[in-house]
Amino acid sequence: MSQDELKIAAARAALSHVEDGMKLGIGTGSTANAFIQLLAERVGEGLRVVGVPTSEQTARLCLELGVPLTALDEAPRLDLCIDGADEIDPNLNLTKGGGGALLREKIVAHAAAKFIVIADESKLVPALGTFPLPIEVNPFGLEATRRNIEDAYAALGLSGEARLRVRDGQPFETDGGHIILDASFGHISDPKALSDALHAIPGVVEHGMFIGMTSLAIVAGSESVRVLEAPKA
Ligand code: A5P
Repeated sequence: MSQDELKIAAARAALSHVEDGMKLGIGTGSTANAFIQLLAERVGEGLRVVGVPTSEQTARLCLELGVPLTALDEAPRLDLCIDGADEIDPNLNLTKGGGGALLREKIVAHAAAKFIVIADESKLVPALGTFPLPIEVNPFGLEATRRNIEDAYAALGLSGEARLRVRDGQPFETDGGHIILDASFGHISDPKALSDALHAIPGVVEHGMFIGMTSLAIVAGSESVRVLEAPKA
C-alpha cells in the first residue's frame, strides 16, 4: 500500500469512533484531510455531526465538502478530536505542527473528551525529536525569544538550531498571526522538562509536543491497522 492508502486506512478506522450527534474536533494535514473526505461521505448519507476545525485550511475543506462546522466558543466541550501527527512515541506523546496548525490543534484536542491520532506507521518513533520541533512564537522580540529558547534547551543538554520557518521567501505566519521556529534536536529524552522550559519563556506561544493528551493512536501499516492505547500513568 502507498503512504496515501495507509493514511486513508487509518482515517477509515477512526471513522468507526464517530457517533451520531457528536461534536468533533477536526485536525489539519494530509491524514486529517483523508478523514474529512470520509466523514463528508458519511454526512452525505445522513450522519449528524458538527465539527470544530483546527485551521483555516481544514475549515475550507470541510465547507467545500459539506461538513457542518461551528466555532469552539459555541461548542467548548467536544466529544472527540481526530488529527494526524508528525511523530508518535511509545507513550503516544506526539510531535505536531509540521503544517503550522499546532496552537489551534492543541486547544481543540484539549477541549475534547477523547483525542485519537491517525497516522501511517512511518510516524512511529522510539523517541520524539527526529522531526524538528515546531515552536510558535510571537513575532515581537523574535531574536530575544530565540536566544531564550536556545538557552533553555541547552540547559537540558539539548543542542540544535531553532530555525525560522519560511514560506515563499517570507516568515511563515500561523492562523494566529504568529511565526514558527523549527528546532532540530535529534532526540528529546525528557519531553515534559522541555515543555515546561519552553512554556516559561514569555514570547513562546506554544510548542508542538502533545504530551499525555492522546487517548488512542490508529496506525496503519502494510500488514494491518493497529489501535494503540496510551500506557496507564
Ligand atoms: C499540522 O499542523 C500538523 O500537526 C499535522 O497534524 C501533522 O503535520 C501531520 O500531517 P500529515 O498528516 O500531513 O503528515
